[in-house]
Amino acid sequence: MNLESRADVSGAFHAASQAQPNIALVKYWGKRDALLNLPAVGSISITLDSLWTRTEVRFVPGQKHDQVSLNGRSDEAESKRVTACLNLLRERAGVDYGAEVASENNFPTAAGLASSASGFAALVHAGARALGLELSLAEQSVLARRCSGSAARSIFGGYVEWAHGRLADGTDSVARPLLDADAWPLRVAVAITSKAAKQVGSSEGMRRTAQTSPYQSAWVDTQEADLDSARNAILARDFDGLAAISEYSCLKMHALAMAAQPGLLYWNGATVECMHRVRALRQQGVPVFFTVDAGPQLKAVCAPSAIEQVKAALRDVPGVLDVLDTGLGAGARERPVGVLET
Ligand code: ADP
Ligand code: DP6
Ligand code: CO
Repeated sequence: MNLESRADVSGAFHAASQAQPNIALVKYWGKRDALLNLPAVGSISITLDSLWTRTEVRFVPGQKHDQVSLNGRSDEAESKRVTACLNLLRERAGVDYGAEVASENNFPTAAGLASSASGFAALVHAGARALGLELSLAEQSVLARRCSGSAARSIFGGYVEWAHGRLADGTDSVARPLLDADAWPLRVAVAITSKAAKQVGSSEGMRRTAQTSPYQSAWVDTQEADLDSARNAILARDFDGLAAISEYSCLKMHALAMAAQPGLLYWNGATVECMHRVRALRQQGVPVFFTVDAGPQLKAVCAPSAIEQVKAALRDVPGVLDVLDTGLGAGARERPVGVLET
């Protein structure tokens, strides 16, 4: 189908999509190429289901600039990052149309809950469809990766691995599904300990770490073994194995980042208290483990039978503002358009 035949009554090209954040069990931290956003290490994650980003994109022929609204507000730095992502799609489609973008996250933005993952997976998914680009999931994952690394994984649902890749052009640094959500339906309790945006965003945090942390090479050198353990644990549905490797990778990533100069400390006191609470539960025989991304929220991954007990234990920790409860979900997908209707 040619692009013109896709235009709506006003001559614009329009689509909407939803994607969910993912949480890394074996962490991505560090880039080997900042321009192509190639990671220093591979990573493994789970895509969530009740947290989401919904994004609507409308390309308007003749419009010069992009107008971006995120959670009902416009911010220059956020808009620039969206424009950089849309430029990749425009380049691919051979058009120069400006776009109107409206996006909403139903969870705190830039606070360590992977809003950049769901945000850019939804943007690439919607933008590509609006422009009539018929991209495979792997191609969408590569484009999403260039906008935010973790977004490569949110194109897919369930258990996902994003490969380090070998090719200089980055086309093999792509995510792929390891196991469907339904095949091992773990649950996640998310303890929110602050809703504020982090002081140092993930991209800047990684740059600082690679430049100054003395542990960077040890981090890179040990990642392949961690990926093998986590992949094997997932394929065998080995909860204890996944618990051990996930907490190890989480604490190792934070130790690496804490050793940067100046040190990156994404936790607050409640984050640490939640870690102790999760470990105490596990010692009592409850199948649960924690992970923490670049922010102060603690994610407790557990067997479905343990979710109520885990939520109650986290709610009890002083400094926990709220506890969200989610299962594992699907990848990026189409939504009805509506918000940008003229
Ligand atoms: P997080 O832990 O939430 O992923 P990051 O520092 O990685 O935090 O990225 C946060 C940035 O991602 C925001 O400042 C914004 O630029 C971008 N972002 C978040 N949500 C969206 C969205 N829905 N659409 C486009 N960009 C988004
Ligand atoms: C700690 O994907 O947000 O959540 O590629 O610079 O956008 P950029 O970084 P981002 O980093 C996520 C880091 C992490 C670990 C992970 O998700 O694997
Ligand atoms: Co992010």
